[in-house]
Amino acid sequence: MDSFNDRASHVVHLTYDVQHGRVLKQIVNDFPEPSAEALALSERLVAVIRTEIAAAGGSIPFSRYMELCLYSPGLGYYSAGSRKFGAAGDFITAPELSSLFGRCLAQSCASVLAELDGGDILEFGAGSGRLAVDILAELEAAGQLPGRYCILERSAELRARQQETLRTQLPRLLERVEWLDSLPQADFRGVLLANEVLDAMPVERFRWNGAAVELFHVRCSDAGFDWCTVQDDAGETAAAIQRLAAEAGLAPGFVSEINMTLAPWVAGIAALLERGAVLLSDYGSARHEHYHPQRSAGTLMCHYRHRAHDDPFLWPGLQDITAHVDFTAVAEAGVAAGLEVSGYTTQAHFLLD
Ligand SMILES: C[S@@+](CC[C@H](N)C(=O)[O-])C[C@H]1O[C@@H](n2cnc3c(N)ncnc32)[C@H](O)[C@@H]1O
Repeated sequence: MDSFNDRASHVVHLTYDVQHGRVLKQIVNDFPEPSAEALALSERLVAVIRTEIAAAGGSIPFSRYMELCLYSPGLGYYSAGSRKFGAAGDFITAPELSSLFGRCLAQSCASVLAELDGGDILEFGAGSGRLAVDILAELEAAGQLPGRYCILERSAELRARQQETLRTQLPRLLERVEWLDSLPQADFRGVLLANEVLDAMPVERFRWNGAAVELFHVRCSDAGFDWCTVQDDAGETAAAIQRLAAEAGLAPGFVSEINMTLAPWVAGIAALLERGAVLLSDYGSARHEHYHPQRSAGTLMCHYRHRAHDDPFLWPGLQDITAHVDFTAVAEAGVAAGLEVSGYTTQAHFLLD
C-alpha cells in the first residue's frame, strides 16, 4: 500500500494495492486555498524552519518540526492569529460544540472542591476560553465556585482571545480568573485540567525495524519539506521505543509516535499538587490499542478547514498537527510521580454518567 498527495490546492489520496496492482480508494479533498496574507505568514515560517534545518546539518527531528509549526512565536499555528476552533476554523473541540462537556466537567470539579472544602482550578491550554466559561457558569449555579480559576496558555494570541471571551461572556467572574506565565509554586489545592492539550504536544515519529529504531526527521525539499530517517541506537528516545517495542510486540516496519515530553509534564504538575485531582481528556487510548498492529502507520493527523489528512508539510503554520495520546503512558507517568489513577473512561461514557 502506498499513498500520494500533491501540495497544490487539492490533496489527492490514492490507496494502492501493490499486490493486485489497483487503486482501492481515491479521496479528493477540495482544500480551500489560504489567503495571500496567510500564505505569506506560512512562507515566513518555512524560512525559519529551513534555516534551522541547515544549521542542524540537513535535518531536524519531527518533534522539533511540529514544535515550530505549532508554537513558533508569532508564526506557529497556535501562536499566530488564525481562527483555529469552530465552524470558521479548522476543527471543533468538545467545548466548542456545546456547553454539555464543560457542565459535566464542572460536576467533577465540584465534587473535588467539595471534598477539599474549597480550592482552585488550573486549566492548561484553554483554547478560546469557552470551557472556562462553561465550567465557571455551572459551578456558580451550583454554589461551588473555586477561589481562583487559573489558565496557563502557551499561545499569547489565544490568551488574548480567552481574556476577550471571559470579559464578554462572564464579566461578573472575570476577577476570579488569572492568567499565569508559568506553573504555580507547589501547594496547589484543587483541580488541574487539560482538554485536547496532550495531543497538541510535539511527538517523535519512529519506525521500528525489528532490531533498531529509526527516527523520522524532516529535511528540505524543492517543494518544501519531506521525510528522512535517522537510526538512533543510543538516545533516551531510542531506549523508550525499544522498551515499547518489546512490551507491545511491535512488528518490523511499525510506524508510530511517542511523546517524550509527556512524562516530565505530568511529573511537573504532580509536583505542584498538594491535594486534588488532575482531569485530562483527549483523543487517545490505552497502549495495547494505541500501538495495535492495525495502527501500523501511527496516529499523526492534520486538520485544515475541517479536512483531516496526514500531510504535516502542507502549508506549515496554517494547519493543526496532532497525534493521539497513549493513556497508559499518562497513567504510568502519574503513578511514577506519586499520583493515583482514579478513573479512565471514554468521553461518551463520561457524558452519559
Ligand atoms: C487543541 S487546542 C485545545 C483548546 C481547548 N482546550 C479546547 O478544548 O478547545 C490545544 C491548546 O493547548 C495549548 N497548549 C499546548 N501545549 C501546552 C502546554 N504545554 N501548556 C499549556 N498550553 C498548551 C495550545 O496553545 C492550545 O490552546
